[in-house]
Amino acid sequence: MLQEEAAGKAPRTSLHGHWSSRLAFVLAVTGSAVGLGNIWKFPYLAGVNGGGAFVLVYLLCVVGIGMPVMMSEILIGRRGRRNPVATMALLGEEEGSSRHWRLVGAMGVLAGILILSYYSVIAGWTLAYTWKSAVGMFTGATTEQVGAIFGSFTENWLPVAVCHTLFMGLTIFVVARGVERGLEQAVRIMVPALFLLMLVLLGYAINSGHFAAGVDFLFSPDFAALTWDGVLAAMGQAFFTLSIGMGAIMAYGAYLPDETSITGTSAAVVTADTGIALLAGMVIFPLVFANGLDPGEGPGLVFVTLPLAFGQMTGGAFFGTVFFVLLVFAAWTSAIGLMEPAVAWLVERYGRSRAQAAVMVGGLIWALGFGTVLSFGVLADFRFYKGTIFDNVDHLTSNVMLPLGGVLITVFAAWVMCRNSSAEELHGAGAMYRLWRFAARYIAPIAILFVFLKAVGVLPDLSGDA
Ligand code: TRP
Repeated sequence: MLQEEAAGKAPRTSLHGHWSSRLAFVLAVTGSAVGLGNIWKFPYLAGVNGGGAFVLVYLLCVVGIGMPVMMSEILIGRRGRRNPVATMALLGEEEGSSRHWRLVGAMGVLAGILILSYYSVIAGWTLAYTWKSAVGMFTGATTEQVGAIFGSFTENWLPVAVCHTLFMGLTIFVVARGVERGLEQAVRIMVPALFLLMLVLLGYAINSGHFAAGVDFLFSPDFAALTWDGVLAAMGQAFFTLSIGMGAIMAYGAYLPDETSITGTSAAVVTADTGIALLAGMVIFPLVFANGLDPGEGPGLVFVTLPLAFGQMTGGAFFGTVFFVLLVFAAWTSAIGLMEPAVAWLVERYGRSRAQAAVMVGGLIWALGFGTVLSFGVLADFRFYKGTIFDNVDHLTSNVMLPLGGVLITVFAAWVMCRNSSAEELHGAGAMYRLWRFAARYIAPIAILFVFLKAVGVLPDLSGDA
């Protein structure tokens, strides 16, 4: 049957069913893209890396690298209609190259598992903060008190582990239910609701009296504040926040109807995702400056600034609770996407049921998560290479595995696949198609390799200014 399919005799379909509509797909990809990456990670990375210049590089990467990689991933996924490992193997063969392209899929499966192992822990913090907001713990709290609440909570492994366990349970539950019943339902309300609440918070930030300082920090580039490591982090963040480079979007693309426009879908998702990240930045940094906090605070940044703001506003306990609930949902719809490549692979390769596969993959991720749980407590001083266990897993995935996956995916889509195949998926040979092909052939792979080599110090410093 596979041969028949490959020869184009039978229409290729996915084992897991299909999205019920184009909107469902857009929502699912947006749901996977919008998550902790936008609201937790983007502001803290921008803060640590000095603001404006980081944001500018991030935006350039989103447009110049993110768009072409995302389009490549969707088109490969839809053409293969299998899990990322099998899709890469099948298309590698079909396009006259090699089945070994499956290693790209395998790296993606691994990256998803590693990312989710820490993602779930941070999502667990969010769960706990929902509770803390609801019981009014932040009402009227001072900067010191909010900082102390964060510190003592994250240092203590047991409550964090309980929240991490709960969150993994939620994720396994939805993944086990399958594409239409599980994944779709989860995103329909969440993204618009999150957007609305961010606007409410923006109103608050504008009135904080330090809006201009926050916006200035975020948008006036100071290149002296940015190292090549920072540039790499900005690029890694572009991959992370768009969920690209690891086959997740490829796995989602496998469930996409043939007639849907890949270009239009990608543009919509990239716009929504970037909009929410910038909005988060415009909410957080005015609050940082209004309360005399350190923008370079690190992973605790949102967990300190937002509770302070909620603690001071009227109805703050309510808004705070709603906000953290939405953040849990945003993280949830992303976590589902992180697990999908591994689960789809187990189901197709080993004939497991979705439920079995979800429990197996989820259990492994849960166990790995303890590396991060302890990174903020007893193992906080256990540091090597880039820092704690959490820092290293984060660096390895966002800054190494995702960009590397991105290079291989664009090279495959734009160099290995023949023109006819990609043109067929992207519907035609117009200007948009040529633009994609140029970006995927040259801009994305060269830019990624350049930044990467710069950051590890392999390329010599010609200008001498960095
Ligand atoms: N984009 C998600 C976020 O910003 C995180 C993420 C990275 C992701 N890779 C993914 C989500 C793959 C789903 C699938 O929070």
